[in-house]
Amino acid sequence: MKDVFILAIETSCDETSMAIVKNGNEVVAMTVLSQMDTHATFGGVVPEIASRMHTENITIVLEETLAKSQMNVSDVDAIAVTYAPGLLGSLLVGIECAKVLSMVYEKPLIAVNHTMGHIFANQIGNEMRYPLLSLIVSGGHTDLVLMYSPYDIEILGSSIDDSIGEVFDKVARVLGLPYPGGPNVDRLALEGAETYHLPKPMLQNDYNFSFSGLKSAVINLVHNEEQRGNEIRKSDVAYCFQNAAIDELKRKVELAFQKTGVKEFILAGGVSANQYLRKVMSDLSNEYQVNFHVPVLKYCTDNAAMIGAAAYPLYLKKIFSNYELNAESACDISKYVQFMKEFIQ
Ligand code: KG4
Ligand code: ZN
Repeated sequence: MKDVFILAIETSCDETSMAIVKNGNEVVAMTVLSQMDTHATFGGVVPEIASRMHTENITIVLEETLAKSQMNVSDVDAIAVTYAPGLLGSLLVGIECAKVLSMVYEKPLIAVNHTMGHIFANQIGNEMRYPLLSLIVSGGHTDLVLMYSPYDIEILGSSIDDSIGEVFDKVARVLGLPYPGGPNVDRLALEGAETYHLPKPMLQNDYNFSFSGLKSAVINLVHNEEQRGNEIRKSDVAYCFQNAAIDELKRKVELAFQKTGVKEFILAGGVSANQYLRKVMSDLSNEYQVNFHVPVLKYCTDNAAMIGAAAYPLYLKKIFSNYELNAESACDISKYVQFMKEFIQ
């Protein structure tokens, strides 16, 4: 079969990224231009600034990616772009760029769900063997899904309130750690110890997650200690919070191992960069003799290579988009799952 090259574009949040991906698993070239330093001065992503910066950066990123790959747009087979979920203004910059490239070079346009991108980051340099269990731990979502193929997915459970990434970021903010919060909590927790008692999330026998109770407990703990004039040991709070949150993820993954007997397990989403989470899931998989895979760090956080990887199964089934494609800010993977179910039938 002829090799398939996909030019992928990702602008859903504060990274402008493009990549050329071969056959859904090999990165020919990738560029990521992060706006993190700019947003850090505001303590979080400012949507208006993000879209303006994408507009400034997108052609630079395109030129750089083409130069690194030594290819032209005319050499690729399709243009893929993240259309949801994310910041509307940011997504629109990527979508308009993709439409123009698709029109001018007469290449099919592929609309990719960002969360599916995080899952398919596991396909880069690695074979995803089905059926597999995937735990998605991102800024917007926490889902546990069983995949029988790229087109046949069952959602086992999701967070009924906050996503795990949101809670990491909130805890970081309460502790006065700089943006982006998650990696800073991760680092600080390495120096912490089990001193504070935090409640365990209470959802017992199903696959759904709940993190809002834990979030409130951390906020109350910090405020109470401050009111009493006690010095808060930030590293211990980070350690105890991280343990409680990751323990909740572990319980649900273990339940899925026991109930489904699945033998392949992947981690996906920005929080999968967390060192302690990677270790806990790796140890649990060893215990159950399950093959475990997590992307290398540069493919855990937002990047266009994962969008090119997720676009490949869509390319194979010729699931192309028209030029009415628009951005969607809130869009969980259930929409993708439902679309695929109907498509396969
Ligand atoms: O998956 P992602 O790009 O967000 C969405 O697509 O929704 O991930 C961003 C999230 C943020 O909440 C960030 O704080 C968190 O991932 N994150 C981490 C780490 N690195 C990124 N959380 C904990 N530990 C990390 N090392
Ligand atoms: Zn993301």
